Amino acid sequence: MRLIILGPPGSGKGTQAKLLCERFGMTHISTGDILREAIRNHTPLGRQAQKFMDGGQLVPDNLVNDIVAERFRRPDRPEAFLLDGYPRTLNQAEELAAVLRELRVAADAVLVLSVPDDEIVRRMSGRRICPSDHSLYHVTFNPPKVPGICDLCRTPLVQRADDKEATVLNRLRQYHATVGELLEFYRRRNLLREVNGLGSIQEVFASCLASLQLEKDKC
Ligand code: AP5
Repeated sequence: MRLIILGPPGSGKGTQAKLLCERFGMTHISTGDILREAIRNHTPLGRQAQKFMDGGQLVPDNLVNDIVAERFRRPDRPEAFLLDGYPRTLNQAEELAAVLRELRVAADAVLVLSVPDDEIVRRMSGRRICPSDHSLYHVTFNPPKVPGICDLCRTPLVQRADDKEATVLNRLRQYHATVGELLEFYRRRNLLREVNGLGSIQEVFASCLASLQLEKDKC
């Protein structure tokens, strides 16, 4: 299966992506994780991306498009994948469509999680991540077994630099400014599946599966 997951910052894309990838054996491709890794490793890409990410702005299309195109043009490109946080603009959607066309593959569906802004702020303030394996936690809604420690690799958890309230509000503004034409792009192609992102993590997962009922038969 080949999926794209969209939604506002903090709506649960990464959380649902992990569950969907486990269920369907897809490779999880998160542009946010790739960019944060580049920043941690002080690569040229990381240096260019950091100032945008710290301010809650989108990284320029050409940089992000190159990351994704490179991932798909490698000989070990994934057959089944879930793109999380990409595309985010109409330009990125058009570039992705061109890369997939070149490989003669197509996305099966585009899930979009809808979550109101006030719930987003609540989720982001409690988010903790593992800097080593990218596992996601929430201090209240999805706590680790030992507070502050990753269940899987025992690394101390951290808060993301862009989870400060002012930055979250910038990221939300950015999302609302760009998402309309992106949704229209996928709606016209009959790929869009709108999913209610409110409820427990398992309830939202059940809604994702329900929205994929037809596509599940293909995997
Ligand atoms: P990115 O990392 O993609 O961030 P984002 O889209 O803002 O989304 P988040 O990762 O913040 O949230 P999420 O929806 O994955 O939610 P999560 O599952 O963590 O991008 C970061 C930055 O990189 C961007 O701002 C931009 O600068 C740059 N960038 C990345 N891609 C780009 C692109 N394509 N173009 C340009 N720039 C790009 O959940 C959030 C919290 O809520 C967690 O604590 C979780 O445990 C909890 N939670 C999840 N589900 C539930 C639930 N149902 N109930 C209660 N809590 C829940």
